[in-house]
Amino acid sequence: MKTRARNEIQVTVIGAGLMGHGIAQVFAAAGHETTLTDADEAVLRAAPGHVAHNLAQMGIEPGPVLERLRLRATLADAVSDAGIVIEAAPERVELKQRLFADIAAAAPRSAILASNTSVIPITRIGEALDPQARARLVGTHWWNPPHLVPLVEVVRTARTSDEVFEDTFDILLAAGKHPVKVQKDVPGFIGNRLQHALWREAISLVHRGVCDARTIDEVVKQSFGMRLPVLGPMENADLVGLELTREVHRILFPDLDDGDTPSPLLAELLDRGHRGMRTGKGLRDWTPGQADAVRERLARHLIAAQASRRTSTN
Ligand SMILES: NC(=O)c1ccc[n+]([C@@H]2O[C@H](COP(=O)([O-])OP(=O)(O)OC[C@H]3O[C@@H](n4cnc5c(N)ncnc54)[C@H](O)[C@@H]3O)[C@@H](O)[C@H]2O)c1
Repeated sequence: MKTRARNEIQVTVIGAGLMGHGIAQVFAAAGHETTLTDADEAVLRAAPGHVAHNLAQMGIEPGPVLERLRLRATLADAVSDAGIVIEAAPERVELKQRLFADIAAAAPRSAILASNTSVIPITRIGEALDPQARARLVGTHWWNPPHLVPLVEVVRTARTSDEVFEDTFDILLAAGKHPVKVQKDVPGFIGNRLQHALWREAISLVHRGVCDARTIDEVVKQSFGMRLPVLGPMENADLVGLELTREVHRILFPDLDDGDTPSPLLAELLDRGHRGMRTGKGLRDWTPGQADAVRERLARHLIAAQASRRTSTN
């Protein structure tokens, strides 16, 4: 297989929901002819409007980007000339397995097949595919919102070809993302494992009555959260020194939550119908205004971070 021409590759995104329309936006903005499809016609029709809104928020003229974004009602039409297909359908194993069987049957036999699953091992998604298609299957795990968070984890399975792994990385890099390579197909890859290790302990502290949920957020945002954009945990461990790191772990690890099932606190809240911001109560209480303010603050923060990233890499 010849290395794929990065700027000419035709991109198809399956699923135009929260993640899919933003992923399509990134490629169309980077100059790729981009096709979007969704099983729900209304979602598909609404996608260009969401993309235009995102671009306007970022100060980018939507017209030229939207011209490179085409909508297709059927999966077979959408993938027929794809160089790379990125699946962003709901997080259900059987659905993704079925989708990739259909994609592999309808897409060119050279197309890269990528899943945006959050935590499902890519190997499982591709277990029924033929060996030639399995060699073209990778994970591309984006973060929400995909047009504003730079990282994409590129995940290889034991069957992914070196060329597909490298090409996927290069295509994402050329599209302005910050790809990283995940060499083993573990559930949750890197970012979600780290993130949910923190959430497990945070929920456990609330459940044990050490503090309330609001205090957890304050502690993170007013302390190590402030350092995280410039100091990763490995840098931090080396900064304080590995002797101290080992002493801290000796005392702390025996007391940390190491449960392998979701916290009973989540079950208690869910049983009472407390699902988070959408129901006004989750781990914390939310009025609609407060929930909107969180979303607004996050979007403003990420847009500013994205702008400063563009300036510093120019
Ligand atoms: N939401 C996040 O923060 C986030 C972050 C990273 C990865 N992911 C992953 O991305 C994927 C999509 O998540 P989302 O949040 O965008 O979900 P979503 O529900 O917003 O969007 C999924 C879309 O897929 C469509 N769909 C369902 N069946 C389909 C089919 N057979 N063919 C084509 N389209 C179909 C749905 O109509 C829907 O519009 C999931 O695997 C999720 O785990 C989500």
